[in-house]
Amino acid sequence: MDITQFKGRHLFVAGGSSGINFGIAQAFARVGVNVTLISRSADKVAAAATQLQALGTQAMGIAADVRQPEALQAAFAQAEERFGPIDILVSGAAGNFLATALDMSPNAFKTVVDIDLLGSFNVARMAHAHLRKPGACIVQISAGQAFTPTPFQAHVCAAKAGVDMLTQVLAMEWGPQGIRINSIVPGPIADTEGLKRLAPTEETLTAMAERVPLKRLGKIEDIARMAMLLASDWGSYITGAIIPVDGGLAMSGPRDFTAAAAASRREKK
Ligand code: COA
Ligand code: NAP
Repeated sequence: MDITQFKGRHLFVAGGSSGINFGIAQAFARVGVNVTLISRSADKVAAAATQLQALGTQAMGIAADVRQPEALQAAFAQAEERFGPIDILVSGAAGNFLATALDMSPNAFKTVVDIDLLGSFNVARMAHAHLRKPGACIVQISAGQAFTPTPFQAHVCAAKAGVDMLTQVLAMEWGPQGIRINSIVPGPIADTEGLKRLAPTEETLTAMAERVPLKRLGKIEDIARMAMLLASDWGSYITGAIIPVDGGLAMSGPRDFTAAAAASRREKK
């Protein structure tokens, strides 16, 4: 792939101050992409933007919650004013915790659906006016729970299934405008908050890696490379796709989080 194609483009990352989404931002920053990041915490997002600037690119961090469409509207307007229309939008803000449906209040379920699903709609909806047309590429960060019914994950399963359906509907509606949108489905990615919540002990982490056909946890870089491929000319005929980058985990059926849930309950005491 010719990485010079990325120079001077504009990447906007929703939920971009840490973990996988920040890793994607770093990968694009290294090839000269200008980056706008948003997340709830003003301190986290400012520190993340500073780290990107140290890679030699221009970066801006804005505090905004994906549950607040007006805050997103203002962030997208500010981003376009600074770096021009958005070429690449990564939408990955999310929340998770292990709890059975009966241990979840209606507000607990709603909170995750509001961040993951409604938040993804808000991001895409408010971004649309600021996307480069034709040419913009949207990458939604989904999860295997979208297609694997998983105990302790009713909220995430419902929300991420919705995210993938949103990907496909928007691919149909926005394809004629030259906007592509795809979902990446990461497997268990080492050194991330998401995995810490699902595998809080050495034992549960080892068991998780053991379930992966390739017998290893994923790296943030594995996901960043797929995001770059999708955003590049190599991805120019791909839209509406749900793409697992998970070492084959999607084939291995529902996971058992009983031990992990017990461990995280113990940790809370
Ligand atoms: N078990 C059951 N319910 C839980 C819970 C748990 N472990 N953690 C939170 N909740 C419930 C709360 O009790 C509350 O419900 P209530 O009002 O009926 O009591 C509801 O969820 C919302 O919690 P709150 O802390 O107010 O939400 P928030 O919007 O501040 O934070 C979370 C959202 C809960 C998802 C929080 O964990 C978060 O900010 N996560 C971001 C980081 C993350 O999850 N990273 C991994 C991404 S995969
Ligand atoms: P993470 O580091 O916690 O990333 C979540 C990001 O979203 C943070 O930057 C957080 O910053 C932001 N965020 C949370 N709620 C928000 C809100 N309401 N509005 C705006 N920003 C918000 O977790 P991660 O593990 O890297 O996960 C990243 C993505 O990958 C998620 O979509 C997750 O579902 C997906 N995923 C992860 C794994 C894994 O193994 N880690 C596996 C499959 C899928 P603030 O706290 O500042 O808001």
